[in-house]
Amino acid sequence: MSRKSPVARAWTAEAVRRIDADFNRSADTHLIPVELSGYPGIELYLKDESSHPTGSLKHRLARSLFLYALCNGWIGAQTPIVEASSGSTAVSEAYFARMLGLRFIAVVPTITAAEKIAAIEFQGGECHFVDDPKAVHAEAERLAQEVSGHYMDQFTYAERATDWRGNNNIAESMFRQLAQEPHPIPRWIVCGAGTGGTSATLGRYVRYYRYATQICVSDPEGSVFHRHYADRGVTAVERCDSCIEGIGRQHVEPSFIPEVVDRMIAVSDACSIAATRVISERLGRRCGGSTGTNIWACARLISQMAARGEAGSVVSILCDQGERYASTYFNDAWIAQKKLDLAPGVAALREFFAGERLP
Ligand SMILES: Cc1ncc(COP(=O)(O)O)c(C=O)c1O
Repeated sequence: MSRKSPVARAWTAEAVRRIDADFNRSADTHLIPVELSGYPGIELYLKDESSHPTGSLKHRLARSLFLYALCNGWIGAQTPIVEASSGSTAVSEAYFARMLGLRFIAVVPTITAAEKIAAIEFQGGECHFVDDPKAVHAEAERLAQEVSGHYMDQFTYAERATDWRGNNNIAESMFRQLAQEPHPIPRWIVCGAGTGGTSATLGRYVRYYRYATQICVSDPEGSVFHRHYADRGVTAVERCDSCIEGIGRQHVEPSFIPEVVDRMIAVSDACSIAATRVISERLGRRCGGSTGTNIWACARLISQMAARGEAGSVVSILCDQGERYASTYFNDAWIAQKKLDLAPGVAALREFFAGERLP
């Protein structure tokens, strides 16, 4: 049946109505002030994307990707949805696929945390494993062919499917929630990059609304993004052996737009996980690893602002819930097996929050 038939159009209209109704039922995510002592005139905030129904910043992206594919006529009533994902996107896409009565298959690396696989299956999704993380794209494409499905391809479409001018994107929500704060126009917004979609949306938004805010992307040391940012000739690394899920890539993704990024900060996995543990203890609940990478970059920026006597606000993202990493980042045996020494990072960050700038 053609997707242009009245029956198919009616199905698409109902699908869009259901997604909009879900959006209408959902509250926006919170902007949490993070207490800072010893940094007069500087404030730090975290945009808590873990409070979305599917527990991460990828809930917004999944909604945009489904609306983009539906309105392009790429999905019909019988179309299986396939995605290549480290987990967060798959959890969110499985949620929307079930809402539309569609089969969902996530192509995930075999190393993906057990908690994330359980979260995908809890949302009604199936997991299809590949040993080589680099092979997820090609395998998702092949599988979509095999099942006559649609490969959602977050890495290609993240920057296209998201409305960067508004429509409650993450940037618009942040600026609205900062309106009554001492520094409503942030000096820095800090985020990570997996697809690059979040940094693209933030970078375009501040340029479109002509804010002076600058965008800083935090990146695992093993990732290609900060190398590509420094030298556009570098488009891949031998292997990205970072264990921070969701961010950092072995090759540059099409949705990463370095032209709208003002600075990048590379962070070691030990510092990311140390920061994950320290910010989790300060908030009284666990956060994911990419939140730790963000916090370490924020601490570096705030330390430099303080050294220059600069005032202003710094905003970053609490990307996902830490419960998903109980068997990894919050498991000392796993940390030891990874030969990661968290102590120096934990000490430095505790001192930072007590007013001792990061070295
Ligand atoms: C937990 C987590 N944090 C951050 C990101 C990065 O977001 P983006 O893909 O928009 O660059 C991802 C992406 O997958 C993620 O899963």
